[in-house]
This record gives sequence, C-alpha cells and structure tokens, in this order.
Amino acid sequence: MAKKGKTIFVCQECGYESPQWMGQCICGAWNSFVEERILPPDTNPLSRGSAVTGAARHGCGRPEPLKKVGTADYDRIDTGIGELNRVLGGGMVRGSLVLISGEPGIGKSTIIIQTAANIAAAGRTVLYVSGEESEEQIKLRADRVCSSIPESLYVLSETNLENVEAACENLKPAFLIIDSIQTLYSSQLDSAPGSVSQVRMCGNILMKLAKTGDIPVFIVAHVTKSGDLAGPKTVEHLVDCVLNFTGERDQELRVLRSYKNRFGTTSEIGAFRMESEGLKEVRDISATFLERNEEMSEGSVTAAIYEGSRPVMFEIQALVSPANVGFARRTSVGIDNQRLSMILAVMEKLVGLQLINQDVYVNVVGGIRPDGTGTDLAVALAVYSSYKRAVPKKRTLAVGEVGLTGELRAVQNTDKIVKEAARLGYEQVIMPVRNAEKIGIQVGRCRVLGVKNIQEAFAAFTS
Ligand code: TYD
Ligand code: MG
Repeated sequence: MAKKGKTIFVCQECGYESPQWMGQCICGAWNSFVEERILPPDTNPLSRGSAVTGAARHGCGRPEPLKKVGTADYDRIDTGIGELNRVLGGGMVRGSLVLISGEPGIGKSTIIIQTAANIAAAGRTVLYVSGEESEEQIKLRADRVCSSIPESLYVLSETNLENVEAACENLKPAFLIIDSIQTLYSSQLDSAPGSVSQVRMCGNILMKLAKTGDIPVFIVAHVTKSGDLAGPKTVEHLVDCVLNFTGERDQELRVLRSYKNRFGTTSEIGAFRMESEGLKEVRDISATFLERNEEMSEGSVTAAIYEGSRPVMFEIQALVSPANVGFARRTSVGIDNQRLSMILAVMEKLVGLQLINQDVYVNVVGGIRPDGTGTDLAVALAVYSSYKRAVPKKRTLAVGEVGLTGELRAVQNTDKIVKEAARLGYEQVIMPVRNAEKIGIQVGRCRVLGVKNIQEAFAAFTS
C-alpha cells in the first residue's frame, strides 16, 4: 500500500513537533520524540466517527438528546467463561476494545482461544489473528484446550494491519482477536512493529474497526514484570478496558484484574488455574489463597479483602529475626514497604516492641497483591506472632486499618467477610470495634472480636 501523508516527530513530554528526530527536545527532555504520520484529511465521514460506539453510524457532528440515546448497544455477549464475564462487568460489549496485558507465558493466548471457541460455538464468526504463532501452532493449542473446534472459528497468521482489515472486510467477524499488538504493523508507518508509533497507530485503527463494525476486539499485549513496556501503555487511554493477567509462571494460579473498564467496575478479579487442558475457572476464590487451612503457626495470620463482589482471603506471613549487622531490614512481598514501616513504627512506639534491631520479612502467600489498608491489622498480628512466638488458640482472621495513634479504623464489607470466614471454619475474626458493633458478637460458629486499638488486638489474638 502506498504511504500517505508526511512524517513528523513529536515530543512525548511537551508536544513539540519537529520535522526530524532530535535527541533532546527544546523542553530539555531526552529521547522523548516519537514518529507520527500526519494523514491527509479523511473524506469518508464514517471513518471520522468518534470513539463512542454508535456515533460513527449516526453521522458526525449531530448532537443527540441524551434521553434518546439507546443503550441496546451495550447488550453483553457471554464469553462462556464466568470469571472473564465478571471482570469485564458482565460479558463483552459490542464495539468495545479490550486490552489483555501480561507477561509472556502467563496464559493470554490460552484464555483467548478458549473465549474464541466459546463465542464461535454460539454460532458467531470469530477471527483470531496471530502474529506470534502459525495456524498450526494455534490449532495444536486449540486441540488441547477446547472440547471441540467450532466451524465459525477462523485463524489468520498475519502481522500486517492492512491485511487484517481486508480479512475483516471479507469475513465480517462478530469478534476479533489480535495476538499481539507488538507484532502488528501498519504500512502507513516506517517504524518497526512494537514501536510506540506503530502500537498507537494500530490501536487507533483497531478502535475504528471495533466501533464501525460494532464488534468486540480483544488485543493482547505483552508487558515486562515492571509493566513498563512503552508500547501498550500508549494504547491504554484509547481502549475501553484494560485487563491484566498475573500470576507466577511456576504456580498454577492466574488472576485476571481490570485496571480500566468503561462498562463496569475495576474491583472485580477473576481467578483461574493453569492446567494441562488450559485455564480452569476457580469459583471458590475466597479460599483459593489459603493452603494450610487447618494449621495455625507462628507468624501466620489470615487476612481478607473485599474484591468487587466477593471476599478474598489469604495468608500473611511474617518472620522476625535478630539483625546481624547494620540497619535492620524491612522486606515485604505483596504489601507496600512504606506501609509495613509505618505499622512497625506504631508497634514500637505504642506497644513497646523492640523491633529496631530485628529484621522483618512479610510475605503475602499465593502471589496476591492486596490493595488498600484493610490488611494492616493482619500484618501487625503476623509480625507480633513471629516476634513473640505466639500462636492463637483459635483459627483467626483479622481485618482493619491501623492508624498512627494505634487506633483501629473501620473497613468496608466486614459483615460479608465474617460470613465467609464462618463458612470456611474460622473461629474468630478480630476487627475494629466500629465494624463489630454493626455485626454482633457471633456469626454462625465464628466469634466477632471488636477491638479499639492495636494493643487490644494483640491481647485478643493470644487470649
Ligand atoms: P500462553 O497462553 O501461550 O501464554 P502467553 O500467550 O501469555 O504468552 O501460555 C503459555 C504457558 O502456559 C506455557 O508455558 C504452557 C502453559 N500451558 C499449560 O500449562 N496448559 C495449557 O493447556 C496451555 C495451552 C498452556
Ligand atoms: Mg501468546
């Protein structure tokens, strides 16, 4: 295809436009220029449509009374995978662009082929475009993870976006998958696949494909462990949903989480297990992260957070041991290090524990990274338990935020957490008194212990 338009270079920091690439911008930023192609004005009114579903079809520039805007477009398409539906906010939305990011090898292609097969099994035409694997490789995986391969599931091993557009024009799929955006390139740009300008250009064109064709489009994107690959980041603002697939590659558990969702909440998570026949849904997520359900051991306390619409429970472990040389270490995995330092400072100052010369390690088991402050109390109790070599007599769960004066601050949804704790056989839940007041002293066979401050919590833990 002949290249249209002219190339300019734009500083990502200040927006300065230059006809040639510059190492340093006039704003002082280094290596901040990315290539952009200015295309001639588009004469097709449809392709100028906005990023909003339906606007392209209604014609450009004509305001519509909000009252009359139909929402039928947001009918959800069932992906056949409950956990994925949940994270998407109830299924896929027509005309939406969804980015699935994750480290290589985490299972993105697997979840996508499973979804593709489910959608195709419902009689819809699905086009799976892969720039990473050949059709044969895709078939091998599909044979492994899909119970049957539906007639209307099409694959295309292709990296040129214009060819993908042509294939869509012919096939008119009801669901399009691009695996991955880093391998895709548009002939309109000279830069290599995966470069910022290519990723952005391809993202824009795919967005237009989704909106004008009114089909859901899934885009796979690889990110590094720190998530800092420039390419996919540039399309994050463009897409409707950003889903992130995480987990440890050598462990089976995979967690799907949404960071952005224009059609639902971002607090839902989906849990899967990677098995030899693909990803299997984990329905009983609240207990998934708890391995040693029955035993109680030193330095281990169960915490809980409320994710989206259900509680998730997990074990927090702490190890406190005398420091050998220099400063004592504070190392945490899954918990913010600053938060840990704050909790330890409160424990030293207000409870009088001598932690200054102790190394403290804290780990959230199962690779989960809980958000929020509701895990503070469990962290404090785990450290206390390891330091004092104290083990609770009863199976205990703890929730609550620790304040700087040692007070325990209320967290949300403790009623649902207690119910789940009772279901899983916990005998007591230690929580802020303000939460406990609303729940009562007993839920099923589980005792509710309301405490005002961290000192009371320590006393309740060992009593
Ligand atoms: P894959 O979906 O190819 O990862 P991504 O697309 O994110 O790079 O999954 C790769 C890993 O998953 C690979 O190491 C093998 C493992 N796997 C299974 O354990 N079971 C399966 O059924 C499949 C298809 C893959
Ligand atoms: Mg893959």
